[in-house]
Amino acid sequence: MPPDPPHPIAVQTFGLTRHFDSLTALANLDLTVYRGDLFGFIGSNGAGKTTTLRILATFLAPSAGTATILGHDIRQAADAVRHVIGYMPDFFGVYQDMEVTEYLDFFGACYRIPAAQREKTVADVLELMGLSDKKGALIGTLSRGMQQRLGLARVLIHDPQVLLLDEPASGLDPRARIEVMAILHELQRLGKTIIISSHILSELQSLCNRVGIIEKGRLIYCGPVQGAREQISPARAVWVRVGSDLDQAVTLLRARPEFSDVQPLDHAIKVTLAGPKTDPSLIAEVLVQGRVKLVELREAEVGLEEVFLRVTKGETQ
Ligand SMILES: Nc1ncnc2c1ncn2[C@@H]1O[C@H](COP(=O)(O)OP(=O)(O)O)[C@@H](O)[C@H]1O
Ligand SMILES: [Mg+2]
Repeated sequence: MPPDPPHPIAVQTFGLTRHFDSLTALANLDLTVYRGDLFGFIGSNGAGKTTTLRILATFLAPSAGTATILGHDIRQAADAVRHVIGYMPDFFGVYQDMEVTEYLDFFGACYRIPAAQREKTVADVLELMGLSDKKGALIGTLSRGMQQRLGLARVLIHDPQVLLLDEPASGLDPRARIEVMAILHELQRLGKTIIISSHILSELQSLCNRVGIIEKGRLIYCGPVQGAREQISPARAVWVRVGSDLDQAVTLLRARPEFSDVQPLDHAIKVTLAGPKTDPSLIAEVLVQGRVKLVELREAEVGLEEVFLRVTKGETQ
């Protein structure tokens, strides 16, 4: 494991556990999120993401263990926690017949932002979310993507430092999803700490700097995105492209014990290295000796999707 970043801790859980009757939805979760992280909380349906976020947001009590947010304990100091977080649940009530500004003003009042200041605050968050021209629109007339951005505007109204977002991109079309992701990047740049949950891995791997992977209530990885790939996927693979003698190249490579798997795919060959010490340049050597023209040699990136499938060993649906 690389050393922890020097940032102070924003969110930490200590043996967080939650039972629902005989079901253990969360088992002894120890999670650390640093200030300024855009933290991806990844797991399939029923893994325990929503349960965790609801506990952090003080809407659900843990059966055992606890957590702190910016140093405030969720059990001892729930009010302080609520002030420093913005929680967006997976389903939030949509007030179809309310105007956008009215809706945000209402939540601003809930947080006791003085009326004189509220107008500017509302204008600011609308601007940030790219919704300024929808001020007077009825919520029911907004697209799904805009409604989701309005949901984000709402959780920002009291300028919280920590955002807990439960699958904010689910149900969005690809374009709206990209917009939401761009906004999250911007919020991170503004210094917010963000925990975003998702069951769609590819959606988070380019966005987040750290990830936690949860399965059946247990944390199976927590750390840098890069580390998730390196730690959990020791089998490295290399893409090879050759001039023309594809079959011969495959035969030559398969004859070597240093390569555990050699698969021709389209016009390239995917070569899996047998051990972590195998030098990929051996591929070039073997091919050159066999008089095969080598066009390209490129180490394959292992995507989070693949990492996830490996660590959960097919337990996801
Ligand atoms: N209020 C509840 N009562 C009973 N079981 C629940 C309740 N909330 C969640 N669960 C169960 O806890 C597990 C984790 O659920 P959840 O945290 O919603 O997962 P995720 O958000 O990762 O899909 C699931 O098996 C779910 O059925
Ligand atoms: Mg959920």
